[in-house]
Amino acid sequence: MDLPSFEPYKTKMVEQVYSSTRTEREEWIKNAGFNLFNLRSEQVTIDLLTDSGTGAMSDRQWSSLMLGDESYAGASSYYNMKKALSEITGFEYFLPAHQGRAAENVLFSALVKEGDFVPGNSHFDTTKGHIEFRKAIPVDCTVEIASDFKSMNPFKGNVDPAKLEDVLKKNPREKIPCILITITNNTAGGQPVSMANLRETRKLADRYGVKLFLDSARFAENAWFIKKREDGYKEKSIREIAREMFSYADGITMSSKKDAIVNMGGFSAYRDEDLFRKASAYNIIYEGFITYGGMSGRDMNALAQGLYEGTEEQYLRSRIGQVEFLAERMKEYGIPVLQPTGGHAVFIDAKSFLPRIPDGKFPGQVLAVELFIEGGIRSTEIGTLMADRDPVTRANRFSGKEMVRLAIPRRVYSDNHMNYVAAVVKNVFERRDRITRGLKIKWEAPILRHFTVVLERE
Ligand SMILES: Cc1ncc(COP(=O)(O)O)c(C=O)c1O
Repeated sequence: MDLPSFEPYKTKMVEQVYSSTRTEREEWIKNAGFNLFNLRSEQVTIDLLTDSGTGAMSDRQWSSLMLGDESYAGASSYYNMKKALSEITGFEYFLPAHQGRAAENVLFSALVKEGDFVPGNSHFDTTKGHIEFRKAIPVDCTVEIASDFKSMNPFKGNVDPAKLEDVLKKNPREKIPCILITITNNTAGGQPVSMANLRETRKLADRYGVKLFLDSARFAENAWFIKKREDGYKEKSIREIAREMFSYADGITMSSKKDAIVNMGGFSAYRDEDLFRKASAYNIIYEGFITYGGMSGRDMNALAQGLYEGTEEQYLRSRIGQVEFLAERMKEYGIPVLQPTGGHAVFIDAKSFLPRIPDGKFPGQVLAVELFIEGGIRSTEIGTLMADRDPVTRANRFSGKEMVRLAIPRRVYSDNHMNYVAAVVKNVFERRDRITRGLKIKWEAPILRHFTVVLERE
């Protein structure tokens, strides 16, 4: 008999999981303006809002905190981070930042100006926010197949080279500060980008003289999928694959709260010394001196250690295996989930789940609210609410996708928790015909509205 694989860690400390009654949850979500970001964590039973910064650090990471060097300049922790970064990504120039969006702010301050275009696969919401905040335009060139929920295409995170070339052809070079590829493609459902696609994008970048950056929050999960799904990579290690992915880029940003399994931290990294120098000035203004930039020494140590742990094959097998486990349970119950399963989350197709709620009434958010009421699960809507308004016309942007994302924190929940989650979703699925009331907006912010929006029932 083949022995089953298992989590490559055991538990040393535990944290309470909270229970509540349905009546309490109904009251809490109403008081939260039907916005799950407004809930207190004690009101949540299983928190699948995000996989960002919610992972469990290892004993090695915790012990590295004690060795944190808090010197303002030249701390040993900075050099630990530099060593890990150089070994894993190949970049020698980097700037620590307190999280991913801060790294984006630093990079885009140095690169992006009003009227520019930043093409790529679907940009993450903070990335889009930083581009639009500068009155520049993010252009989504993701492959069309990404919007087909059922397609088993192995690389639905890819950029469509024809769409990308069209943008590169139609606009002068000085209007395109960079192409930005997000690995894995969070907005398209945690779907990976193939090595062939990265290679081809590099060729296009060279042909048109444009830089290529990677948003590499989940680079290790992307490398895992390349190993499993792309010809020629089966025998390569995750770190070898990651190095090749990074070799096609002029630089990267990373929210290290994902694949470096830390609760806070990030960085931008550069191949070109001049751009690094330019970005350094912004890092100093916004984040802090270039050898700590928004991070304490102890956090840099934990990040360095996390980069090694996050790229271990046994860990990735168990991590991505757990996401797959939840998706399989849900599929057994007939729940429409995005195929193939992404790296960090299970995405439910809210449009088919709740066909009686039209897009303008936020079916994704309605479903997310119902999952909370049913079993205290906190998820997030990835649909019209998150897609926000067109910055020029202010009309709602309908991407055609209405999803609910169940993001799985790293090394936190057991498969029993996943069984509970699947059962909660099943119960809501069984009463879906009775869910007919949509939501409407009572108040919204001018940008990134989903974080703070206040909603009410129709
Ligand atoms: C792909 C991607 N890029 C950037 C970010 C922003 O990172 P942070 O939350 O650390 O600011 C996120 C966060 O979820 C993300 O998923």
